[in-house]
Amino acid sequence: MKINIKRISKSNIESLDFDNIPFGKAFSDHMFVADYKDGEWQNFEIMPYSRMSMSPATMVFHYGQAIFEGMKASIDAEGNPLMFRVDEHAERINISAIRMGMPAFPKDVFKEAIRSLLCLDKDWIPKNEGSALYLRPFMIATDEYIGVKPSETYKLIIFTCPVGPYYTEPVKLITAEKYIRASKGGVGFAKAAGNYAGTLQPMKEAKAKGYDQIMWMSEDFKYIQECGTMNLFFIINGKVITPSTKDGTILKGITRDSFIQILKNKGYEVEERLLSIDEVVEASKNGTLEDVFGAGTAAVVAPVSEIRYKDLDIIIPPTDTRSISIMLKKELNGIRNGSIKDPFGWIEMIDKQEVASLEA
Ligand code: COI
Repeated sequence: MKINIKRISKSNIESLDFDNIPFGKAFSDHMFVADYKDGEWQNFEIMPYSRMSMSPATMVFHYGQAIFEGMKASIDAEGNPLMFRVDEHAERINISAIRMGMPAFPKDVFKEAIRSLLCLDKDWIPKNEGSALYLRPFMIATDEYIGVKPSETYKLIIFTCPVGPYYTEPVKLITAEKYIRASKGGVGFAKAAGNYAGTLQPMKEAKAKGYDQIMWMSEDFKYIQECGTMNLFFIINGKVITPSTKDGTILKGITRDSFIQILKNKGYEVEERLLSIDEVVEASKNGTLEDVFGAGTAAVVAPVSEIRYKDLDIIIPPTDTRSISIMLKKELNGIRNGSIKDPFGWIEMIDKQEVASLEA
């Protein structure tokens, strides 16, 4: 496999204020592009980050064959780029692809593309606490055709952006009562663009009522699913509980899985199971609801301050009392930036020699 590299003539990095990085609005110098045609992935290329031109008939605009990943890279104290759980992201994009009738992308090229991007754009990896380089691989259907069928051509693109925290304040959730995000047999587990599109109008309505996110529920509105931007964890009477992903309605979050592994490694029990809103209401009433937080690549740990359910405000205890989620955030950020030893084999380091072989 050969990735052809066209370097940017002048870096755009001076435009970035590393002490004030907005989430998802600043983009690094290079991007990776690959084409699927004639039944195989080809034309592997890294080029300057740039706009793309497409025909109005391009299928992704009409039937939504579009999937993506979100992953993070950091830099250690010696200046080596670190990739976090890149194998799992490479696997998950293919799980999403298959569900959406799209072709799997070769894992070795995916990893190689990311390694090369990190070498070329190493200086874009933020060093500040809580910041990282966010990588956004995505795949879209590119046939110019408006009949409904799976496209025969696709593009996979990976671009990167330095980011600070996704949420800067604890989030207020409102429980879904009218809309659902996903049901059994659907595409809830896939990182499909349409999963996000369907939540935008309900989100507008939630925002108008003063809430940041919707807590999505099962079709009967009894069981908690996720938040759309993150999975959810609850701590009730010392027990860590997170909704099970078994029925395929919830994204199998890689941060979610990382927290489960960190917790189990430290001797905590984690219950992955059906969790009803009634159980959360009951725990709040009897004083055993200790913590609620979101977990996601972008969000890392997002403390939840309150949950609206019907006419009830469930108030979660103050964030400084939440020792478990404070620990999880510290551990995960530490493993990611190399300041805490990684006992799980999640980190892949890119050494100086490899960086030097590609640096602009
Ligand atoms: C992520 O956490 O990577 C996501 O894809 C969520 C998105 C809202 C930024």
